[in-house]
Amino acid sequence: MRGIIPLLLSAALSAPAVFAGPIARSPYVVKETHNPPREWTKLGRAKGDNVIQLQIGLKQGNFEELERLLYEVSDPFHERYGKHLNSEEVNELVRPSKESSDFVHEWLRENGISDMGYSSAKDWIIVHLPVESVERLLDTEYHNYKHEDGTMIARTTRWSLPRHLHDHIDTIQPSTSFFRAASNKADWVQAPPEIPASYKKPSNESIAKVCNVTSVTPECFATLYSTKWYKPEAAGKNKVGFTNYLGEIPIRTDTELFLKKYRPEAAESARTFKAYSIDNGPVQDGPLTANQSESDISHEANLDVQAIAGISWPTPIDSYSTGGEPPFIPDLSTPTNTNEPYLAWVNWLLEQENIPQVISTSYGEPEQSVPRSYAERVCRQFAQVGARGTSLLFSSGDRGLGGTNKCYSNDGKNTYGFLADFPVSCPFVTGVGATMNFEPEEAVYRPARNTSTGFRDLYASGSGFSAYFERPKYQDKVVTQYIKNLNGLYDGSYSKGGRAYPDISAQGLQFAYFWNGTEGTISGTSASCPLAAGIISLVNDALIASGKRQLGFLNPWLYSKGYKGFTDITVGYSYGCNVQGFPVTEGWDPITGYGTPNFAEIVKQTDAKYDW
Ligand SMILES: *[C@@H]1O[C@H](CO)[C@@H](O)[C@H](O)[C@H]1NC(C)=O
Ligand SMILES: *[C@@H]1O[C@H](CO)[C@@H](O)[C@H](O)[C@H]1NC(C)=O
Ligand SMILES: *[C@@H]1O[C@H](CO)[C@@H](O)[C@H](O)[C@H]1NC(C)=O
Ligand SMILES: *[C@@H]1O[C@H](CO)[C@@H](O)[C@H](O)[C@H]1NC(C)=O
Ligand SMILES: *[C@@H]1O[C@H](CO)[C@@H](O)[C@H](O)[C@H]1NC(C)=O
Repeated sequence: MRGIIPLLLSAALSAPAVFAGPIARSPYVVKETHNPPREWTKLGRAKGDNVIQLQIGLKQGNFEELERLLYEVSDPFHERYGKHLNSEEVNELVRPSKESSDFVHEWLRENGISDMGYSSAKDWIIVHLPVESVERLLDTEYHNYKHEDGTMIARTTRWSLPRHLHDHIDTIQPSTSFFRAASNKADWVQAPPEIPASYKKPSNESIAKVCNVTSVTPECFATLYSTKWYKPEAAGKNKVGFTNYLGEIPIRTDTELFLKKYRPEAAESARTFKAYSIDNGPVQDGPLTANQSESDISHEANLDVQAIAGISWPTPIDSYSTGGEPPFIPDLSTPTNTNEPYLAWVNWLLEQENIPQVISTSYGEPEQSVPRSYAERVCRQFAQVGARGTSLLFSSGDRGLGGTNKCYSNDGKNTYGFLADFPVSCPFVTGVGATMNFEPEEAVYRPARNTSTGFRDLYASGSGFSAYFERPKYQDKVVTQYIKNLNGLYDGSYSKGGRAYPDISAQGLQFAYFWNGTEGTISGTSASCPLAAGIISLVNDALIASGKRQLGFLNPWLYSKGYKGFTDITVGYSYGCNVQGFPVTEGWDPITGYGTPNFAEIVKQTDAKYDW
């Protein structure tokens, strides 16, 4: 760790625009320390001239009030139910105090920083700075870190702030966040489809006719989840969205091939879905180029758009591609994703007047890869989206309790324990796990295996209890009961008091999809999440067509009433962390939540007219 450079040198000696040392009215004190998980290897110092988009999270003015309102407008038994907030009302509540804002601006200006961007509530300040300037500003050193999957990022494990700013800044990223927004598709993409050992042919003929366990299709989902007969009526007012990271682009030509085969009347939507670029995120209309297919991208994005369009057509779709602005050219010493895309996306979304009523995200990472302060703030940004009346759905991860041989803490002690995933662990979002088979549906499971290309980890529905977020009230009854029924099983390996997930589940094994002009199958809670999002968006259609408000943040409704519209899943285990894991049980469980959607039954749990 470098010492603080004497203040007086700064103005006189530095080149214009780059300052030389931190200036502050109080001494620097360490604000945060956070170790990377074991999968990350520290390499050399980050390049000093590599530009980072630094996001500074100021303490929000009145988040407690926002949270209270979020729960009221999302609670079907409250008189404010459905009275969602508009963007000004949200901004008003979370805008930082004048004192916080003044202190932070003073510090930045004193350090020669004048070019600042803001989130719409001014609760985030965004500056673009070379690594060497960030190092001085935060009295730290950035190093490159390499993940075992090859991802490189520039991060630090400790940073400081002048003491008088500690209460005014919640978090600054990218600094200690070892988060890379990994896609939740199981790494079985190229594996030939298999019939699960527990599979039994359905006796129900209408299901048996359309559901093929080695290649599940929209027609199967529409039958299994009873959306088949429904004709959406509110497509002009209702929308559904999904997010893309890591250079993923939903490919229109592949989507058109998919829809022509499996939902011909929807084929047009392959060309008409809206693609938004955030921070130079990639968008394109043509097929994958040779280079793109070579680098194997867009499996996730293609799956997402095809799963949604296949079930929710003609509901318009918004695709959000968030990049890592500013552009950089990866080389051995330059990380591939220096910036923090999650935050960029949610803050961009909060600036929009009209946001889709449901948004699906199939990305996540072990919770311990991000520092708590960062997780808490991103989660609060999600609460703001919920208060606006949007359901955020996140896939629960594909490694059960945390994969094989990976379940150790990164606090230096290497303690064995289950690893929760983030963002699904945020109590203001709805987590979606995965099922397989049809009669009955059960929690998804494919065992780990050694193949000719190496070790393939298990695929099992992501399950867990957050170590960062306390159990929200809406979960008290069912989660406490579930833990009680465990009778001490796995005590000490998980956070009993934490927010538990997932909340619901949906099919997640061997989806038919198109990629690079060819049909294949793909698995993951990555598939379950957009499918569930498509179905929830049909429920919103029924509500909006009845002159009612959309569901918004789902969980208070789900845990008090909505669960009755879901089909309970009672077979399976969570697996992961080298144990069989939590059992799937009757009622809510942390592998399949309340189970899979039955559209017609869900609509009955809402204010929509259902005399069809
Ligand atoms: C089921 O899907 C597989 C592809 O995974 C295909 O080969 C097979 O023909 C399909 N079966 C039926 C009955 O359609
Ligand atoms: C077969 O499944 C469909 C779709 O879930 C359902 O509507 C129907 O009632 C089932 N039939 C029988 C005989 O259970
Ligand atoms: C494709 O990749 C090759 C090798 O990495 C590179 O030299 C070439 O410029 C790329 N072409 C395009 C069009 O990006
Ligand atoms: C993608 O499709 C192109 C055109 O059909 C083909 O030449 C290429 O080999 C494919 N790439 C992969 C990785 O399958
Ligand atoms: C894979 O191979 C390794 C090394 O031989 C072995 O230790 C491990 O148990 C195998 N895993 C599975 C799931 O077969």
